[in-house]
Amino acid sequence: MIRACCIGWPVTHVRSPLIHGFWLKEHAIRGEYGPEAVEPGQVDAFLRSLADRGYAGCNVTIPHKEAAFAAMDEVDPGAVAVGAVNTVWLDGGRLIGMNSDVIGFLKNLDDHVPNWEREVRHAVVLGAGGAARGIVHGLLSRGVETITVANRSLSKAEAIAASHPSSLRVADWASVPALLADADLLVNTTSLGMKGQPPLDLPLDTLKPTAIVSDIVYVPLVTDLLARAEARGHRTVEGLGMLLHQAVPGFEKWFGITPKVTRGLWEHVAADIRGT
Ligand code: ATR
Repeated sequence: MIRACCIGWPVTHVRSPLIHGFWLKEHAIRGEYGPEAVEPGQVDAFLRSLADRGYAGCNVTIPHKEAAFAAMDEVDPGAVAVGAVNTVWLDGGRLIGMNSDVIGFLKNLDDHVPNWEREVRHAVVLGAGGAARGIVHGLLSRGVETITVANRSLSKAEAIAASHPSSLRVADWASVPALLADADLLVNTTSLGMKGQPPLDLPLDTLKPTAIVSDIVYVPLVTDLLARAEARGHRTVEGLGMLLHQAVPGFEKWFGITPKVTRGLWEHVAADIRGT
């Protein structure tokens, strides 16, 4: 029996058990994946005892991603760029960590708009938290020339821009509508538009007609931003696909099979989201 888990605080609403449970059944693997509530301050100790607890590895969710990064013996370049780890496995007793959110975002974009890199020269990223940092890194790794990071608190956008001064610009929230005429890709990485959060109040009438619109929010499955973009004829990229794709590397490391993100999996998790 191979076991893995997801650590967070609180960890009651995580959907990764649904994803990994689906794949374990699909591949008839004798495995188990469940949530583990780990208190802040206990992350390092928990990760150091993964093997003793019978785990091959784990996912890490809010608010532990930075603490997990600090606890690793080795991390991938994506995790270094973001300063956060969401997938952990053991290699000869050493803790190895990666950030699969970046991969998840890119794979989801690839699925929805194949060859998007050929047309995206300028991207506008809304938000400057951990998710934005990862997405900026991912877009640059695929050759996007210019990225404007727009955030309510300008200093956080400036901090991201400082790491790539030649390709990144910053903008304050009020100037976003004016930026949209020149955007090939618009990505919302803020929590605005999520169930229980304020709406993302951004008029799209200035948005370049050929722009792709992506939202990492997946509750609701189709956010107001995506619905309005779709109504204007834009190609849209929903957030649930990113969640599904970010789960692939962990499953592969722990259970030894590369699982597929299928329509069946999407529907399985979507049904749970619709029921909330
Ligand atoms: P994550 O790590 O998932 O990106 P985060 O670090 O909490 O989460 O970042 C959330 C993002 O949503 C931030 O860019 C935040 O803006 P601030 O940096 O100004 O806080 C943005 N955000 C959240 N609520 C917002 C609101 N009401 N208006 C504008 N931006 C908001």
